[in-house]
Amino acid sequence: MTSTLLSPLGQKTHSETSKQFRDDVLKGLNSPIRSIPSKYFYDQQGSLLFDQICELQEYYPTRTETRIMQRSAKMMAACIGTNTRLVEYGSGSSVKTRILLDQLKQLDSYLPIDISREHLHTTANNLAVEYPHHDIQPLVGDFTKPINLPKTSSPQTRTCIYFPGSTIGNFTHEEASRLLHSMRSTAGPRGSLLIGFDLLKDKHTLEAAYNDRDGVTAQFNLNVLSRINRELDAQVEVASFDHKAIFNEEAGRIEMRLRSLRNQSIRIDDHFFHINAGDEILTEYSHKYTVEGFTTMADEAGWSCRAVWHDAQTYFAVMYLEG
Ligand code: SAH
Ligand code: AVI
Repeated sequence: MTSTLLSPLGQKTHSETSKQFRDDVLKGLNSPIRSIPSKYFYDQQGSLLFDQICELQEYYPTRTETRIMQRSAKMMAACIGTNTRLVEYGSGSSVKTRILLDQLKQLDSYLPIDISREHLHTTANNLAVEYPHHDIQPLVGDFTKPINLPKTSSPQTRTCIYFPGSTIGNFTHEEASRLLHSMRSTAGPRGSLLIGFDLLKDKHTLEAAYNDRDGVTAQFNLNVLSRINRELDAQVEVASFDHKAIFNEEAGRIEMRLRSLRNQSIRIDDHFFHINAGDEILTEYSHKYTVEGFTTMADEAGWSCRAVWHDAQTYFAVMYLEG
């Protein structure tokens, strides 16, 4: 395994990263609609909580996408072809990737990109042991910022971006469209994209997936406040907030918020925010798509759909696209 390549992503130092975190939190809390960007869920604790979410009975996306991968990975690998490097956006624990790696015997290299530094390192180290014949090059960074990938080993090597988990759903349509455009240029002239996205379905199933009985999603949501206390000079009483997740039918998305249980003041550095009982902080959107809607958005970003796989209930889809 090649050790973490920091420069290609224009990786920030630890102190630059915390400054960015602080600036984004202050900006979000000062906005008319109070918010914290969802990418800040993922510190070490947040990544572990996300892995627990993936195991929940109510959280259908992970097991549904996993089944799609198990059933169709051979065909997906045939689409991806040989002499390709696989670049994964938001790789997390790379669980579904392993199903693909098992079929990609002649892969040039695998480059998992994730913002959650320690979790990425642990995962990459495990993968290096499990896949000794694959060249694994983890990259710590934010994929919404410009990405300069290392040079390919030969001019013939193609780039396939793998973006599973419906992480695309965590972006507004405008942001998702921008991300698809930037992926198009990152993947290069003969590049491809294999992407998983969650499909629109009944409100009950959707809301249950984000309001599990064990309260793991609540812990995941509240962890962003604990992270603010851990990493910033801040005083936030985590216990005085509640988790809330509702399906906004008009917008076709789950909206996750933290609701204040009482009138309170929170402090970050020398900034104080007064929050009334019932006030909310927006922490995540999770957009749900139709295959047609997603195809149109991808098309406008320069991608052509070549194949799509979904489960029998049409809960989730995985699409293969080329430029
Ligand atoms: N792909 C995995 C994990 C999905 S969870 C799966 O399908 O199960 C979303 C992942 O994206 C997390 O690991 C998180 O750390 C990462 N992530 C979220 N926003 C990111 C960003 N802007 N840049 C890089 N990684 C990001
Ligand atoms: C990573 N992302 C696609 C998950 C989702 O479903 O939007 C994050 C998540 N939030 C709550 N549960 C899971």
